[in-house]
Amino acid sequence: MIMPCFSFLFKKKGPSRLQLKYQEFAEIENVKIYSYNELRHATEDFSLGNKIGEGGFGYVYKGKLKDGSIVAIKVLSAESKQGVREFLNELKAISTIAHENLVKIYGCCVEQDQRILVYNYVENNSLAQTLLGKGYSNIQFTWRIRAKICIGVARGLAFLHEEVQPHIIHRDIKASNVLLDKDLTPKISDFGLARLLPSNMTHISTRVAGTVGYLAPEYALRGQLTRRADIYSFGVLLLEIVSGRSNVNTRLPYEDQLLLERTWALYERGELEQIVDTSLNDDFDAEEACKYLKVGLLCTQDNPKLRPAMSAVVMMLIGEKDVSEQIMKPGLISDFMDLKIKHQKVSEDFMDQKIKHQKMSVNMFPASTSLEASTVSSMMTTNMSVTFTSTADHA
Ligand SMILES: Nc1ncnc2c1ncn2[C@@H]1O[C@H](COP(=O)(O)OP(=O)(O)OP(=O)(O)O)[C@@H](O)[C@H]1O
Ligand SMILES: [Mg+2]
Repeated sequence: MIMPCFSFLFKKKGPSRLQLKYQEFAEIENVKIYSYNELRHATEDFSLGNKIGEGGFGYVYKGKLKDGSIVAIKVLSAESKQGVREFLNELKAISTIAHENLVKIYGCCVEQDQRILVYNYVENNSLAQTLLGKGYSNIQFTWRIRAKICIGVARGLAFLHEEVQPHIIHRDIKASNVLLDKDLTPKISDFGLARLLPSNMTHISTRVAGTVGYLAPEYALRGQLTRRADIYSFGVLLLEIVSGRSNVNTRLPYEDQLLLERTWALYERGELEQIVDTSLNDDFDAEEACKYLKVGLLCTQDNPKLRPAMSAVVMMLIGEKDVSEQIMKPGLISDFMDLKIKHQKVSEDFMDQKIKHQKMSVNMFPASTSLEASTVSSMMTTNMSVTFTSTADHA
C-alpha cells in the first residue's frame, strides 16, 4: 500500500524522464539544466519583489539558488520560444563564451514549454538605469570610470566580433544591455540571445525594444546585418556615456533631441567639448573626452566600411592608435523621420509615450529582415507593433 504512494510522490517531485534526458545532455555539454521548481523557489514564486527588469523577451528576476548563489533569471515570453533541442544547442555555444566584459550564462530551464535563462547576477544594474536613468543612483560616474566602461564594452564587443568563432553579432548594443558589476566593470548582456529565438520568425509582430536611435541605417532600412551595425550602436552608446545623455531626449529643443545629430553639429563647429556631461564639473581630460566623441562619430559613419573594427576602436580608446580626423556626417535614420516628426505637433508627454513605444526589438527578427523606410518613419510617430518581412540574407 505504501509503495505506490511513494512512487507517486517520487514521480511528482523528481525530474521527468525528459528532464533527465536534458540533464544528461547538459552534463556532457557543460550547460546546467535547472528544474522549474528550483527557479520558482529561488525567486519566491517569481514574486514581484524579486522582479528586476522587463525587456523585449520577458521578465528578469533576481534569485537565490539552493547553494546560496545569486542569479538573474530571465523568463522568455511566449513568442520567444523554440524547440528544446535547437535551444539547447544554441545555449551550448553561447555558454562556452567567457570574457571579463560579458555576462556569464549559467544554464537554463526547458521544462515543458518554459524557456528560462539563468545568468550571473550583476550587482550594479544597467547603464540605462544608473548613468542615464531618471532615478537616483549612488554611483559617481567620474571621467576615469566612464573611460573604463567604454573600453570594457569595446573589449567585450571586439571579443565577440573577432575572437569568438564563428563570430557573434550582438544586434542590440544599448545602455540597458550594459550591466555594471560591484567594481563597475561593464558586462555586456544578451549576446547570442537572437540565436535562442525561433529561426523561422520571418513575420514578427512584436512589442518593440531597443530604441531606434541605436540602429545603423543600413540595418534598419535594408536589413543588412553585419558586425558594422553593432559598431554603429556602440558609437551611439559611447556618445551617451561621455555626454551622460540618452540618444533621444524629447524634452530638449527639437534640433538637440537626437544626441548623434547634436554631437555632429558641435563637431562641425569645433565645439565638441560642449556635449561632455556637465555633471563632471570640468573634472575630466578634455582632450581625451573629445577623442572618445570622435571615435563615437567614426563608429556611426553612414558608410559601414568607414566604421573602424572593434579591435581598432579599443586601440584608439586606450591611446595606442590615432583617431582619424577624416570624419564625415554620421548616418542618421532621423533624416528619414524628419518629415513625419515635423508635421506632427504633439505635446511633450505624448511624444515621450511614443518614444517608449517606438522601441524595436532588433533581436526578435532574423538577419534577413528589412524595414521599409516608411515603416521606420511611422515608428517615430505612432505607437505601433511592427511587422517585419524577410528579404535577402546579408549577415
Ligand atoms: N544578469 C543580470 N544581472 C542583473 N540585472 C540584470 C541581469 N540581466 C538583466 N538585468 C536587469 O533586467 C533588466 C531587463 O533586462 P532585459 O534584458 O530583459 O531588458 P532590456 O535590456 O531592457 O531590453 P532587451 O530585452 O531589448 O534586452 C536590465 O535592464 C537589468 O536591469
Ligand atoms: Mg537586455
